[in-house]
Amino acid sequence: MTPLRRQPARRRTAVLRPGAVLATVPVALAALVGATGPTAVGTAGASGAGDPYFPLSGNGGYHVRHYDLTLGYDPSSRHLEGRASLAARATQNLSRFDLDLTGMKVTGVTVDGTRAAFRRDGQELVVTPGRTVGAGHDFRVTVTYGGTPKPVTDPDGSADGWIPTDDGAFVAGEPQGAMTWFPANSHPKDKSSYDITITVPQGRTAVAGGELLGQHTAHGRTTFHWRETQPTAAYLATATVGNFQVERYTTRDGIHVYNAVDPREAKAAAPVLKQLPSVLAWESKLFGPYPFRSAGSIVDHANVGYALETQTRPLYDSAPDIDTLVHESAHQWFGDSVSLTAWKDIWLNEGFATYAEWLYEEQHGGDSAQKTFDSLYARPASDELWAYPPGDPGSGANIFGTPVYARGAMTLHELRKAVGDRDFFRILRAWAADHRGGHGTTAQFVRLAGQLSGKHLDGLFHTWLFTKGKPNRA
Ligand code: ARG
Ligand code: ZN
Repeated sequence: MTPLRRQPARRRTAVLRPGAVLATVPVALAALVGATGPTAVGTAGASGAGDPYFPLSGNGGYHVRHYDLTLGYDPSSRHLEGRASLAARATQNLSRFDLDLTGMKVTGVTVDGTRAAFRRDGQELVVTPGRTVGAGHDFRVTVTYGGTPKPVTDPDGSADGWIPTDDGAFVAGEPQGAMTWFPANSHPKDKSSYDITITVPQGRTAVAGGELLGQHTAHGRTTFHWRETQPTAAYLATATVGNFQVERYTTRDGIHVYNAVDPREAKAAAPVLKQLPSVLAWESKLFGPYPFRSAGSIVDHANVGYALETQTRPLYDSAPDIDTLVHESAHQWFGDSVSLTAWKDIWLNEGFATYAEWLYEEQHGGDSAQKTFDSLYARPASDELWAYPPGDPGSGANIFGTPVYARGAMTLHELRKAVGDRDFFRILRAWAADHRGGHGTTAQFVRLAGQLSGKHLDGLFHTWLFTKGKPNRA
């Protein structure tokens, strides 16, 4: 795979007529032809969403409104069978578009029920419909595929995607892994609702986000139908499979909880999971109303090395401790409901979720946030904590590093000290409310903090988010 393997899409224009020559003409001229001539003129959607850290993640030219995934997984053969039906809307006259998908064999693609041409090019599934989709038009893409999914290795060396376990699969997608198990517009810029219907051998449980609409067993196989109606980034979808003990209840606040716990983790997990309703209630007081109707946890027994804030239902690779539960729960506000537009802004997820842990400790008999800050600040200038600034991690290899989590949280602590508790929590609540179900950027957060507090905070943010090396104390 070479980064130069394709011409920039926007410089090419395809005029789609039966047997037409694919003419390369300047875009302005093509648009003129399209406006005046009878033939729909389109251009190819970009092969990426424009994120410099992961240039091929996501795609241009369309938005996915809804994913309808029908999956079958056999843990013993590790074979995944899939049909993905995507309800999308073109954001340009679209002659051709990409989906992200790695591995797997694609057996057919249709667009609006008509067979479409497709080819594979690295992680891009390139689809050419029979006719151009007009800008603003809704269209449906259906992809049938199957094979043995393989996780991707991230720039930091961690595995991500469909990760087989001894009894099923641990399915996590941050930042790139969604494309290992379904064809996706895999960048947090694009958020969608999901229906996931997954069939597994009887006795295994398949867990996704949102509500369980139905479950039925026939011929030794059980099918689970999950629906998440709230906008979800592809990396926050899951379809984790295993032997799980299931617990369901509704909290006092009317949140539907579904917990799935590997029996080998059950004893250690129980006292922590029991606290989920009180953690969500405590976070709701601090951050504003819980953004979703469903909640819960998936506690697997897998050696993955991280947990993930899968939307409504975080995924743990072993029994979590309370700090991790608080962290993944805080992500429901910061990361899941309010999503990134670029991976560079990752501190908006990880710094916030880490600061939620500090606040939890402070208010539940542990160290004060100030004490946590001080012990981190005491680390020498050579410590990895100061290796790069959290607002500008530099590359995809650094997005889950200590500076993003810890110095990101230190930034929020500095903000809190500068504006006082009252304004600090007003800022957090306004952030969650104003961008609920959507997106936010670092620049927008900095602006909001300044507006709500009436203080000049640019220096503070510049120092803590963007300056190399250990900042001097203010
Ligand atoms: N967002 C997750 C957390 O902080 C971490 C995900 C790490 N993913 C990875 N591929 N290393 O809980
Ligand atoms: Zn996190």
